[in-house]
Amino acid sequence: MQSTSLPPTMTAETAETAGALKQRAAILATRGDHDGAVDALDRAVEAEPRDAETFAMRGGSRAALGMLSAAVEDFAQAVMLSPKSSSYLDALGVHLQQLKMFDQAVMFHVNAIQHAPEQEQPRLFVNLGRAMMGQGNHAAAVELFETALAAEPDLHDGTINLTNALVAMGQHARAIDVCRVALERRETTELWHNMGSALNRMPGRKADAVAAFERAIEIDPGNRRSRHMLALLKGEEIETIPSAFVSDMFDDYAAYYDKDVVDKLKYRVPGLLRRLMLDPRTGKFRYKAVLDLGCGTGLVGVMLRDLTDYLKGADLSRNMLAQALSKGLYDQVEVVDVAETLGSDDRLYDAVVAGDVFGYLGRLDMVFALIHAKLEPGGILAFSVERSEDADYGVLATGRFSHSDDYVRSTLEAAGFVVLSVAREQLRVQAGMPVEGMLVLARKP
Ligand SMILES: C[S@@+](CC[C@H](N)C(=O)[O-])C[C@H]1O[C@@H](n2cnc3c(N)ncnc32)[C@H](O)[C@@H]1O
Repeated sequence: MQSTSLPPTMTAETAETAGALKQRAAILATRGDHDGAVDALDRAVEAEPRDAETFAMRGGSRAALGMLSAAVEDFAQAVMLSPKSSSYLDALGVHLQQLKMFDQAVMFHVNAIQHAPEQEQPRLFVNLGRAMMGQGNHAAAVELFETALAAEPDLHDGTINLTNALVAMGQHARAIDVCRVALERRETTELWHNMGSALNRMPGRKADAVAAFERAIEIDPGNRRSRHMLALLKGEEIETIPSAFVSDMFDDYAAYYDKDVVDKLKYRVPGLLRRLMLDPRTGKFRYKAVLDLGCGTGLVGVMLRDLTDYLKGADLSRNMLAQALSKGLYDQVEVVDVAETLGSDDRLYDAVVAGDVFGYLGRLDMVFALIHAKLEPGGILAFSVERSEDADYGVLATGRFSHSDDYVRSTLEAAGFVVLSVAREQLRVQAGMPVEGMLVLARKP
């Protein structure tokens, strides 16, 4: 009798075995032993290959072990076996987001919402909004976060994501209002951090931003992002932005970087770098080997590919490099922190370019020395920086560095370069305002 109510492949005996294995896996996972849990769940899948919950559990443990692709496969299997489960659909979407597959994630999140009971929907709206932010659709994301918060005002994740999206859209005053209301309900380190980030971008609110970051650190002394922002605001000696901070930021930005900078920010640097490479003062109109430092998604590569026989891209962010690779322009790419090394190859280049990269390094003497060593005699260096009027280099409200004309020239010369030109240019538009910078061309004698 009992076996007739079970799926066709399942006997009472295997069901019991699979059940016991799942129970053991759940205990192991709670203790943090995800290897043990995956082991038990592998056996549970063998015993009962049509149980959606087993796949979802294994997906959770594989994700905890950093096996993201395998986790996505498990959640996809769970969804195939139980296509109307909002929690499996949502989990699949969340893990697709971690693989930066935002278009696919949106599809599963929408599906999850359709099948979820009303009380679960606010949380699912937030996850859909995050996927839409990944696609670069901040306006739609804001609407979703607001819908979620209207239904459940205490949804902390909703407030954090809403304020992130508003700051990304340049709507700082609105972000501050949202933080203030949420902080009246409950103080968290993330909310104070976002409050500080929004205040920092408003004219005349530096002291308030300092107070907000200090409060964020009081609540969680381990909050490194707030510590970094506070150090910048207090003018403490900072020579570079921590590389983990930069790579996390660009890993998140990678999927919508091209659309954002080209359509919204009217980013001009790649075209300006091409112009420099063809400047008669270089004495060149074609190159043997070009190294694109901080190549990001490859927008500079698009502009330079036809000028060189060999093109290498180097960047801190794996996701940015993945986008660059997908353009099929680079002969080689490498994950590299240019503050330390320019890569593992011993090739000499006849040009090194860096579009909008030195804003993440303050001091430039070290990187100029590294570049000098990578260039053959007569090789050129072309790069952009944001322009500072006074200090050698200073920190902008965006957390990036700007550099002065004098500092750039003297540091290049000290590294052994001849400065060929330093030209003032508009680099992009930000929050409706032109961002002024310098396009610099130098040669190794
Ligand atoms: C604003 S993007 C510019 C990307 C590309 N050059 C362009 O013009 O589109 C800055 C890039 O520099 C990279 N970057 C920042 N600091 C770096 C470092 N220390 N080492 C290597 N790459 C870095 C970031 O990961 C990001 O891809």
